Amino acid sequence: VTEPDLVGRHVVVSAGGTREPLDPVRFLGNRSSGKQGYALARTAAARGARVTLVAANSTLPAPAGVDVVPVGTAVELREAVLRAAPEADAVVMAAAVADFRPAAYAAGKIKKKDGQEPEPVTLVRNPDILAEISADRARPGQVIVGFAAETDDVLANGRAKLKRKGCDLLVVNEVGERKTFGSEENEAVVLGADGSETAVAHGPKEALAETVWDLVAERLS
Ligand code: PMT
Repeated sequence: VTEPDLVGRHVVVSAGGTREPLDPVRFLGNRSSGKQGYALARTAAARGARVTLVAANSTLPAPAGVDVVPVGTAVELREAVLRAAPEADAVVMAAAVADFRPAAYAAGKIKKKDGQEPEPVTLVRNPDILAEISADRARPGQVIVGFAAETDDVLANGRAKLKRKGCDLLVVNEVGERKTFGSEENEAVVLGADGSETAVAHGPKEALAETVWDLVAERLS
C-alpha cells in the first residue's frame, strides 16, 4: 500500500542522459535510458507529490500526472532544474549529466579530408548542477538528492562524492556497459550527509525509488 506521504509536496526529478553536440548529426552521450529517473517520478506521483520530470533524451512514455520537461544538453538541463527548483521541496538528480562538452559546435557536418588526420576534439567543463543547487538552496529545508554512477571503488568514491557535491543524500550505484544502464533493476547504497547508510538490495528500480522517497519524506517532516 502506497502511503500518500508526499501530498502537498512538489518534487523535481531529472532523468536520462545529456547529449553534447559536436555538429548537427553527432553528439557525446552516455548509456542512461531514463528508467531510474522515471521510476522516481512515478513513485513520487503515486505518493501524492506534484512532480516535474526534467527528461534528457529519454524515449520512455510520460508517466501519468507528471509534468515532463524535455531537454537535450547539460546546459539545458541546468536551466530547467533551476527554473523548477525554487518551488520544490526536493530535487533528485538521477540524470547522467555530461561533465564535459565539445568546446566548439560545427554548424555543418564535420567532413573527413583525404590524407588528413582527424582534428582532435577539445572539451570544456559543464556546470555541476548538483553542486550548485546544493550550495545555493532555492528554499530553506529543501532536500537534495544526487546519484553516483561508479565503476570501481564504488562506496569510497561515493563517500567522497557526497562531501564534494554537498547534497543531503547520495544514491551510490555501480554501472557498466550492461550494468544498471537500461536495465529494469538496480541496487544501491544511499549515503546520508548525517552519516547514515541505507543498502537497497537488487530489485526493480521502483523499489530503490521508494526507499529514496522514504528517506526524503523523513527529512521533510
Ligand atoms: O537511466 P537508467 O538507464 O535507468 O540508468 C540509471 C543511472 C545509472 C543513470 C542512474 O541510476 C545514475 O546513477 N544517475 C547518475 C549518473 C551520473 O551522472 O553520475 P555521476 O556520478 O557522474 O554524477 C553525480 C551526480 O551529479 C548525479 O546526481 C548527476 O546528476 C550530477 N551531475 C553530474 C555532472 C554535472 N555536470 N552536473 C550534475 O548535476
